[in-house]
Amino acid sequence: MLNDINYELYPPRHFKSLSPENTAKSRKHPAMSTSQQTLSPHGNLATLATGPLLQLDGVRCGYREAGEWREILRGVDLIVGVGEQLALVGLSGSGKSTLLHLLGGLDVPSAGTIAFDGADLAGLGEPARSLWRRRHVGFIYQFFNLIPTLSVLENVLLPLELNGIGERAGRETALGLLAEVGLADRAGSYPDRLSGGEQQRVAIVRALVHQPQLVLADEPTGNLDFATGEKVLDLLDRLVRALGRTLILVTHSPEVARRADRVIRLVDGRLSLA
Ligand SMILES: Nc1ncnc2c1ncn2[C@@H]1O[C@H](COP(=O)(O)OP(=O)(O)OP(=O)(O)O)[C@@H](O)[C@H]1O
Ligand SMILES: [Mg+2]
Repeated sequence: MLNDINYELYPPRHFKSLSPENTAKSRKHPAMSTSQQTLSPHGNLATLATGPLLQLDGVRCGYREAGEWREILRGVDLIVGVGEQLALVGLSGSGKSTLLHLLGGLDVPSAGTIAFDGADLAGLGEPARSLWRRRHVGFIYQFFNLIPTLSVLENVLLPLELNGIGERAGRETALGLLAEVGLADRAGSYPDRLSGGEQQRVAIVRALVHQPQLVLADEPTGNLDFATGEKVLDLLDRLVRALGRTLILVTHSPEVARRADRVIRLVDGRLSLA
């Protein structure tokens, strides 16, 4: 199961043939009509032939602090289609990162269900969820979270190794993607030798190298200047769309949110259209 990555589908040359249309900033989800995109935060994608990638029903989550239960998410409903790009916005402390952790299987809701491709994530149990996460999720964080003792190439190879793909098999894919983001010549460098924008490009490659179905980004440009952030987002957008993957991106920036197919906002523990 974990070794089912088909690298024939993902040769580095694939990225050389990306057309400019794939990079269009405002492209909407191809399978959605305009009315579908604006109906509700729950979306209207259940009828798509492919079915939704994610379906959240009545998701609740909170934290116990000093003996008190603080509920952060209070009934989140959401349907996300395959290949959709969503921006998740909301005030600081509204629960965006909490929701992203649930979507990535790092935590489970206290109530409600999260179905990935029809299967309930909480029902998997921790060990199986961990394996599921390695295979199907790519995370990108505000502070890059590269491993400082590993070279750029070794950082990128890590998700492949965790999925049972050895260095020899993964190297070509990893180097091809690094070339795609303009970092082929930095494969042997260590993260502390790279600029912030370069580190985030490596983090993007690391998040995509194992072809996850779901890419989760928590304020990926929050630590970059505007111009660098735009370049990083262009790359992320282009690679995610070229691979037909689903992206959920947390941001505080209206400019960043505008690039998404759909913008959803967390208010008082629930989602609404932004
Ligand atoms: N492990 C934890 N234990 C206790 N409370 C927590 C924990 N993690 C998060 N919280 C609380 O949950 C609330 C939501 O946090 P979360 O990090 O999801 O917000 P956010 O919307 O991502 O905020 P920001 O935009 O500042 O990153 C906050 O009040 C936070 O203090
Ligand atoms: Mg956060």
